[in-house]
Amino acid sequence: MRTTDSPRHLLVIGIGAGDPDHLTLGAVKALRRAEVFFVLDKGPEKSSLTGLRRRMLDEHVPGPYRVVTADDPWRDRARDDRAGYTTAVHDWRRRRADLCERLIREELAPGQTGAFLVWGDPALYDSTLAVLAEVAGRGTVAFDHEVVPGITSVSALAARHRIALNRVGRPVHITPGRRLAESLASLPNDDGDIVVMLDAQESFTRIAGEDVRIYWGAYLGTPDELLVSGRLSEVADRITRLRAEARARHGWIMDTYLLRLPDGTEDGTGDRQGDRHRGSGPA
Ligand SMILES: C[S@@+](CC[C@H](N)C(=O)[O-])C[C@H]1O[C@@H](n2cnc3c(N)ncnc32)[C@H](O)[C@@H]1O
Repeated sequence: MRTTDSPRHLLVIGIGAGDPDHLTLGAVKALRRAEVFFVLDKGPEKSSLTGLRRRMLDEHVPGPYRVVTADDPWRDRARDDRAGYTTAVHDWRRRRADLCERLIREELAPGQTGAFLVWGDPALYDSTLAVLAEVAGRGTVAFDHEVVPGITSVSALAARHRIALNRVGRPVHITPGRRLAESLASLPNDDGDIVVMLDAQESFTRIAGEDVRIYWGAYLGTPDELLVSGRLSEVADRITRLRAEARARHGWIMDTYLLRLPDGTEDGTGDRQGDRHRGSGPA
């Protein structure tokens, strides 16, 4: 029996990078336990991403449930230096925590189970867990939570290009685009497998070197998916053009890429293909 003392329960569910087939069985079971779904989106991608999540719920959740949508707070993107960026992100997280605190308190009754649906995996460049930690730390609304892992956009990228992320016995480095130059400077030359995410600045255009290879993917797992691979010096312009066309068409873009720096010991993990398109994107 639920009482006003019953704890609220939250599920943070990784739902994959966009392909409904990338929902894990664990995610589907978790979706079916939830009574309320919280959906926070913003910007031009809002309607397509919200629609994608709704279709996942329609397909997998037979029982009655409620979807609570809210506008993700605005984030100051004006300051690009590291200190300014960190301050802006902390400020945004605080406002996100304000919003989540209100949603949990007002939209979830004691004893109910709510769910946040997170693209990819909640553990990779996503603020939901940090925001919930902040809300819990305030002590204003009691809840417990569990995390259901998802397939990341990085896994989807590697699978679509049919490559391993790492070469034998080598590390893989994951970085936001804005830190790519620093990453390159701080890595030993032969540790050259770098996954780049959140790259609005097309940082790959600033990488020199004849033998650097890139494996790029946009809208991975969706019908609009775009894939390009090859020597960076040969395909960089093409990726820039495809990005511009796709952004103009959709109003937003999400892309990820792997940079494979030369080390003189090709071990056959690179798939030598050109462009591949899944949907109606440009050829
Ligand atoms: C806020 S992070 C979220 C990452 C997500 N938690 C994950 O596990 O993939 C957003 C970044 O993830 C990458 N991303 C997410 N979904 C993607 C997709 N469908 N196709 C390509 N890149 C994607 C892009 O680099 C984007 O800038």
